[in-house]
Amino acid sequence: MERSRIRPDRLPRHVAIIMDGNGRWAERRGLPRTEGHRAGVEAVRATTRAARELGVGWVTLYAFSSENWSRPKDEVDVLMRLPEEYFETELEEAIRNDVRIRTIGRIDRLPAHVQRTMGDAVEKTRNNGGMQLVFALSYGSRGEIVDAARRLLRDHEQGKLTPDSVDEKSFAAFLDDPELPDVDLLIRTGGESRVSNFLLWQIAYAELHFTDLMWPDFRREHLEAAILDYQGRERRFGLTSAQVHGNAD
Ligand code: FPP
Repeated sequence: MERSRIRPDRLPRHVAIIMDGNGRWAERRGLPRTEGHRAGVEAVRATTRAARELGVGWVTLYAFSSENWSRPKDEVDVLMRLPEEYFETELEEAIRNDVRIRTIGRIDRLPAHVQRTMGDAVEKTRNNGGMQLVFALSYGSRGEIVDAARRLLRDHEQGKLTPDSVDEKSFAAFLDDPELPDVDLLIRTGGESRVSNFLLWQIAYAELHFTDLMWPDFRREHLEAAILDYQGRERRFGLTSAQVHGNAD
């Protein structure tokens, strides 16, 4: 319904999603929180399929933050099973549809079985040039920026760069995935209006879309509504409205 009003020539190139509200969704139904995470996988399936069908180029999902390690062990264990649940059905689908799976975050901290699942998905889709689907796992944006600074200093030690050669573009090449474009649209479900250490570098000019919907209820129509909201915004990148519209003096 909404889809017909979406302008294909003005799609956000990169949509990033903070998938919040799984726990509350479950608690409201008298279910354990972990059931909310399982239901969240269904929302991930629906949303990634819809994004691909709409023609979105990049989608990044905040699947597990560096702060999430502090949750009860049982909950962490369930969260660590979700990639397997997702790829059980979606890896074939990704391969068939030219989707490339990528990861950001401190992947080496994940249990071996998660590293295997993600590594396999990344490897089997390496040459795909359609939608780029990025899983942020054990991810925190400050940590990513600190890691980038470390890599940069190592290159400096080896004489590969000088302080004056560092600018925004060359610094970004040290981030977890140098090819990750700036985020155009950041969606957060679950009713909170904050960015929670997600892609701080990449969201510099993003349009933010917050919804009260709990993540397990998120479906194609909600993605379409967020994109329509985005398409209704005027993106100025620091310019005046007149400059954007080409009628400045
Ligand atoms: C926040 O909800 C959500 C998470 C910590 C996990 C997000 C992960 C998924 C939705 C599934 C990931 C899927 C794959 C394929 C890896 P919350 O538990 O903080 O909810 P609450 O704020 O209601 O407590």
